[in-house]
Amino acid sequence: MRGTTFPLLLSTLCHLSLAIPWSAQNQHPFAPVPKSPEITGTVTSERQDAVKEAFLFAWNGYKNYSWGADENRPVSNTPSNSRFITPSYITNSKRTALRLTSVSHFLSTATIVDSLDTLWLMGLQDDFALARKHVAKINWRDTRKNLVDAFETNIRYIGGLLGAYDLSGDHLFLDKAIELADLLLPIFDSPTGLPYQFIDFSSGQPVKSGYPRGASILAEIGSFQLEFTHISQLTGNWTYHHKAQRANDFFDGLRRTHQYPPGLFPILVDIDNGEFTTSTCSRVAFFDGVSVFLFTLRKLFPAISQAQITYGGLGDSFYEYLIKQFILSDGTNDQLHRLSLESVQSLEKYLLSSPVNRTDLVFLAQLVDGKQRNGMDELVCL
Ligand SMILES: *[C@@H]1O[C@H](CO)[C@@H](O)[C@H](O)[C@H]1NC(C)=O
Ligand SMILES: *[C@@H]1O[C@H](CO)[C@@H](O)[C@H](O)[C@H]1NC(C)=O
Ligand SMILES: *[C@@H]1O[C@H](CO)[C@@H](O)[C@H](O)[C@H]1NC(C)=O
Repeated sequence: MRGTTFPLLLSTLCHLSLAIPWSAQNQHPFAPVPKSPEITGTVTSERQDAVKEAFLFAWNGYKNYSWGADENRPVSNTPSNSRFITPSYITNSKRTALRLTSVSHFLSTATIVDSLDTLWLMGLQDDFALARKHVAKINWRDTRKNLVDAFETNIRYIGGLLGAYDLSGDHLFLDKAIELADLLLPIFDSPTGLPYQFIDFSSGQPVKSGYPRGASILAEIGSFQLEFTHISQLTGNWTYHHKAQRANDFFDGLRRTHQYPPGLFPILVDIDNGEFTTSTCSRVAFFDGVSVFLFTLRKLFPAISQAQITYGGLGDSFYEYLIKQFILSDGTNDQLHRLSLESVQSLEKYLLSSPVNRTDLVFLAQLVDGKQRNGMDELVCL
């Protein structure tokens, strides 16, 4: 079906090519990593074997005890499903209005999709084929009336499928990624074009987060562009790229009026008006790592009520995706060059910090209302 639209797209593309700062090539050809002289071939292959062995232990545990679920609980060896879930702060009245069930037991297979590229790279072709068989059967709409977390769905599922397609050339993975991207598209239908946090696949209705003013999270807002641009590169349909690109344009557009250090942005954004929300977090969701992290922060710093800037949880992948998109553009995109350079320059200028009397140690602090707050979580190590 997609193939038949190609000649039409080619002519459209010719008109658009000046407006699209992306080469249509799939992947920037990376230079080979130079071998460090002290590492011999034997050491390298021993290390590779150790990594593969660790992967196989986890994969076989998942296969034995939790096949088809999102993940395996490694101590009890029981299945767990955490990726498609209706968060607890969606109130009962809202649930009723959205016709959602309260508890998720949807088997959404995150580990299978997320592992495809690793299986391929490790040469585990039988397991890759097994996973492919499973992917072919997934019906994305079958969410058992649960909300879908748009960010998780993009990075794990669309990202995993595109990785599998790039490596294997098997069109099933691209088709599945397009199906899912099409289901996600309504999340960008906000007044600012910045994405909603959730979506109900059965109605196509996007749903705001449980943060104050339904704000979306910076890291999540900034983590659609790689996958959506890549789908556009692969299909020649630039709708996906343009939808996700609005977030880049939004942050780039703040440059002149920005009251924060250039290239750094607070972690919660009101998607109706594009304002950074600074009010106290009145509701906290306990349903995923990100939100639990916020809860921990609040416990440590009860007064967390100001605009917070961090490379850690809730901010991390926004900055990560800027650089990765620049690479995906083969180094040709000026906007991404500017945004990623500014974010790193401001990181050096405003966030670097050292413990008292230990200038030999450096960590990345946070900025809260313009002041450094000394704390760094593991997600800072991108
Ligand atoms: C998975 O099951 C096989 C066959 O029963 C067993 O040999 C293997 O140890 C199991 N692997 C894990 C990680 O539990
Ligand atoms: C591009 O994709 C969008 C989203 O699926 C779709 O609405 C549109 O018709 C597609 N355009 C073409 C030319 O196929
Ligand atoms: C830092 O060094 C100064 C001078 O040696 C010393 O007085 C102070 O107690 C040290 N502070 C800490 C927290 O170690």
